[in-house]
Amino acid sequence: MTNNFFDFTLVNKNQLRLEEHLDYVPRMLAARSTSQYYPQYHIAPPHGLLNDPNGLMQLEGEYHLFHQWFPLGPVHGLKYWRYLTTRDFLTYRDHAIGIAPQDEQDCKGCFSGMAFLGSGQPQIFYTGLDSNAQQNVLQADFADYRISNKRLIVSLDPQLTTNNFRDPFVFSAQGKDYMLVGGENLNHQGVLCTYVRQADNTWKYLGNLELPCQDTGFMLECPNYLRIQEQDILIMSPQGLQRTEPHKFCNVFSVAYLVGTLHPEIPSFTGTDFIELDHGFDFYAPQVFVDQAGRTILYGWLGNSKAVYPSDHEQWAHMLTIPRQLSLCDQLLRQEPLAELRQLRSNSYLVQGKHSIKSTAFELEGQATEGLSITLGNAQGENLTFQVKDGTYYLDRSHNTHLYNQQYGQERQAPVLRPNSQLQIFVDASAIEIFADDGLTVFTARFYVDNLEFVDIQSASMKLHYLRAIEIIPA
Ligand code: FRU
Repeated sequence: MTNNFFDFTLVNKNQLRLEEHLDYVPRMLAARSTSQYYPQYHIAPPHGLLNDPNGLMQLEGEYHLFHQWFPLGPVHGLKYWRYLTTRDFLTYRDHAIGIAPQDEQDCKGCFSGMAFLGSGQPQIFYTGLDSNAQQNVLQADFADYRISNKRLIVSLDPQLTTNNFRDPFVFSAQGKDYMLVGGENLNHQGVLCTYVRQADNTWKYLGNLELPCQDTGFMLECPNYLRIQEQDILIMSPQGLQRTEPHKFCNVFSVAYLVGTLHPEIPSFTGTDFIELDHGFDFYAPQVFVDQAGRTILYGWLGNSKAVYPSDHEQWAHMLTIPRQLSLCDQLLRQEPLAELRQLRSNSYLVQGKHSIKSTAFELEGQATEGLSITLGNAQGENLTFQVKDGTYYLDRSHNTHLYNQQYGQERQAPVLRPNSQLQIFVDASAIEIFADDGLTVFTARFYVDNLEFVDIQSASMKLHYLRAIEIIPA
């Protein structure tokens, strides 16, 4: 064992339980307290590591959000679900732990899952790692802000998959309930194992969903099924896709979707090949749900597997994206910041040229005209740039103060689909979310420019709205 407290938490990451080590928390909070990278209006962990959004739902006007959480270090350790609720996306109540890895079926980790709103009480479906760390599908009940009555519903079948078998997604179609579970088959290909719910509430395996994709990598994580404007859509997080075009699927793992028709009883999906959902450096494992107003809302993990981030020593890692409303346009998914976020706006300015900023939480709004160049910089000449040049968008973080994950490149590009269309950019300390082409092209990324002090907008003017912090209060 090492003497350094933080090294100790890393070495023991798969055993450390928050309930037994509450005394670590003040030390972790102290390490974070002076951070210039911690966001104001994004959901981030108070301490420890956040990854996938989980269990998203709205009930009686209130939104329930969970996320993957290892509370005792900026690493992937023993996973819990953290739990927050909100009615307006401005003020949140923090319920701390949503699910803890404490039963025989999930004592080695509560991995990703979702909330299914059938006709009765909401049901939670998630991945439990049992005492042998085998991944199985568990179900639980949800009522009065509590998840209870965890039970095993589908065990991993070693004839079908390796121990990569997780992230159930349940939905109703044609009068039946179906479940997709992400997996790696014995030939090391990504598959979606498909199940149907029987009259006695057990789940019958129907086969692996036949997909119209050339390549499914070695593993398909976090499947989502959604239906928009009479079209079926699958969103998933494939691992190990071959890169066939230079500016696509550049991250270690990417997020992709398919548009077409689902035939769950076969089971098969016919339609497009994979379309990349986001063009930035840091976006993974999104989850969608439909709210009571019928809006399809997406949250993503604003982070990436395997990377070590320059702020990890502050004992917190990653955040969720802002919530985005999805729609379909010309067979492409369109993502727009949720309308409620406008309520975060405080003072607004028209900006052209170099403009000193008084906070690093703001939104830029304008038109993506050819030649537009946006620089977020400091006095030392370190910066992040976004440009529209020769019909292409470029996001470049090669001149940041701190570089990381360089083996995957420091620039991202995407073709302009709609010249001169609306551009919305959300900046929050070390996070940036860029909505171009009216939301058809999105770049999500972290960046590390120390003491950020100006924005410089060339070839156009944009509106700058300072954004207030969200409020998170104990439940
Ligand atoms: C995606 C993922 C999921 C898994 C979870 C574990 O980021 O690997 O497949 O359930 O994270 O934290």
